[in-house]
Amino acid sequence: MKPGFSDVLIGLQYGDEGKARIIDVIADEYDIIARFNGGSNAGHTIEAGDIRISLHQVPSGIFYKDKILYVGSGCVVNPVKLIAEIDEIHAAGVSLGGRFHISSLATLVQPHHILVDKLIGGDIGTTGQGIGPAYSDRALRMKDGRLLNIRTGDLLSDFDGTLRQIRVNLEATLVANNLEIDNRHISQTMEEFANAARIVVTYIQEDTLFLSKLVRQGKNVLFEGAQSFMLDVVKGSVPYVTSSSTQAAAAYSGGDLPPTFHRKTIGVAKAIMSRVGSGPFSSEFGGPRSEAYCKEKSSAKSFKEIERQQSAGDLLLSDDPFEVGVALRIIGNEYGATTGRPRRLGCLDLVQLAYAVKANGVDEIFLTKCDLLRDYSRTKNGTMPIVTGYLSNGKSIDYVPASVNSCRELETAVENLPCFTADISTAKSAADLPKELLTLLERINETSCQVRGAGVGPERDQFVLLES
Ligand code: GDP
Ligand code: IMO
Ligand code: MG
Repeated sequence: MKPGFSDVLIGLQYGDEGKARIIDVIADEYDIIARFNGGSNAGHTIEAGDIRISLHQVPSGIFYKDKILYVGSGCVVNPVKLIAEIDEIHAAGVSLGGRFHISSLATLVQPHHILVDKLIGGDIGTTGQGIGPAYSDRALRMKDGRLLNIRTGDLLSDFDGTLRQIRVNLEATLVANNLEIDNRHISQTMEEFANAARIVVTYIQEDTLFLSKLVRQGKNVLFEGAQSFMLDVVKGSVPYVTSSSTQAAAAYSGGDLPPTFHRKTIGVAKAIMSRVGSGPFSSEFGGPRSEAYCKEKSSAKSFKEIERQQSAGDLLLSDDPFEVGVALRIIGNEYGATTGRPRRLGCLDLVQLAYAVKANGVDEIFLTKCDLLRDYSRTKNGTMPIVTGYLSNGKSIDYVPASVNSCRELETAVENLPCFTADISTAKSAADLPKELLTLLERINETSCQVRGAGVGPERDQFVLLES
C-alpha cells in the first residue's frame, strides 16, 4: 500500500496569524489534522457562516466531518478547558465522536500549573493557562518522590491514583508558596478536574503508533502549529516566548510521526503583524510606548469595548505611530482570542519573515488580513510601510539576533509602498486584487518564498488562491 504524506503548517511571526482559518480552507486536502505543541494558550478562530469559534486544544479541522483530529504527545492537555471546548463544538452542531484522539503521552496541565503561571507569568505576559509550569514539570519529571510529569495515559492506567497525585502536587505547591490551604477549595478544584478527566479518558489513544500506522496505510496529515516560530522556546525572543517548540521540525517529535513522510512546510503570516505579551517587536507602531500600554491595559476589564469607543478614522490621521497602531487594532479587532488582551501591532517585517522562512524551510506562504492593508491609505501619507532591512551596530544583517537587547537596538529600514483604496473583501482571484497588493506579494515571493494564497476577510470564502 502506498503510504500517505504529511505537511506542516506553522505561524511565521508572533502568533495569531490566522493559522486556523487557513487550515479551515485547506483541510479538505488531508485526512488528519494534528496538533503537536502547546495547549489552551492557543486561540485558533474559524468563521464559517453563522459560526465563529475559537479553538484552543482541538485541531482546526472540526468542520470537515470525516477528518480525524489528533492531539500529539508534544501537547499539554487541560481537561477542564477541553471539556468546555468540546461542549462549545457540540453546541455548534459538530460531532467529534470516534474521530478525536489524544496521545496517551501528552502531558496533563494540573491545577498547580495554573496557580504557578498566575504567580510568575506576569513578566513575560503569559496567557495564564499553566503552559510553562506544565512543560517545566515535564522536564523535571519528579521531585521529593512526587511524580510531576503526569500524562493523559496515566489516567487510563490508574485514574484514582493519578488524581491523588495531582492533589498532592497542588497541596505541595500551596505550601511551597506560603498560600492558604483551603481544603474545601482544593476538593472543589479536584472534583471539577476529575469530572472533566472522566470525559477526556474516552478520547485518549493508547496506541502510541496510532498516527504513523494511519499514514503508513495511506492517510495524509496536516500538522497544525500553535503559537508561532518567533515564540519558539529556543529560537524565539527568549525569555519572552512560550515554552514549547513551535518550529516546523517539532511537528514530527510532538506529532508522533517519523519525518520520512514530510512533503512540504506551509507558513502563515499576517499583512499587519501582531504580538501579545512582552518582548521585542522591531516594527511595532509606537515602539516601547505601545508595549507598555498594551501590558498595562491587559488586565483592564472591558478594555476592548473602551478602546473601541475612539474614532479609528481620526487616529489613523495622527502623526503619532502609536495612535495609528491603536486605530489599526480597533479596525482589525486585534484582541487576544484566549485572553482578550490588546494585541500590539506593527507593519510587515520582510527581514523577519525571510528569516523565519529560511530557518524552517518554508515552501509556501499564506498571507492573511490583506483586506486591512487598505486602511493605510487613510493615514496621513497614505502609504503601506514595510520593513526591508536590519542594521545591527551599523552592520546589515539578515537574521533576528539571539539577544533580546540586540533585537531592541536594531535599526530598521522602512520602505513606504503605494497603497490601494479598493475594498478587496469580495476578491476571488488574483485578477480581482489591486496592483499595489500584487506588488507586495511579489516582494514576498522574491525575498521569502512563493505566496500561495491571500486572506481578504475572516470568512471561509474570503480567500484568494494564487497561481504558482
Ligand atoms: P491563529 O491563532 O493563528 O489561528 O489566529 P487567531 O484566530 O488568533 O487570529 C486571527 C484573527 O484574524 C481571527 O479573528 C480571524 O477570524 C481573523 N482573520 C483571519 N484571516 C483574516 C483575513 O484575511 N482578514 C481579516 N480581516 N481577518 C482575518
Ligand atoms: P496562537 O496559537 C499569540 C504568547 C503569550 C506570551 C507568551 C508566553 O493562537 O497563535 P504562554 O501562555 O504560552 O506561556 O505565553 O506567548 N502566546 C501567544 N501569542 N498567539 C498564541 O497562540 C500564543 N500563545 C502564547 O502572549 O507572550
Ligand atoms: Mg491565536
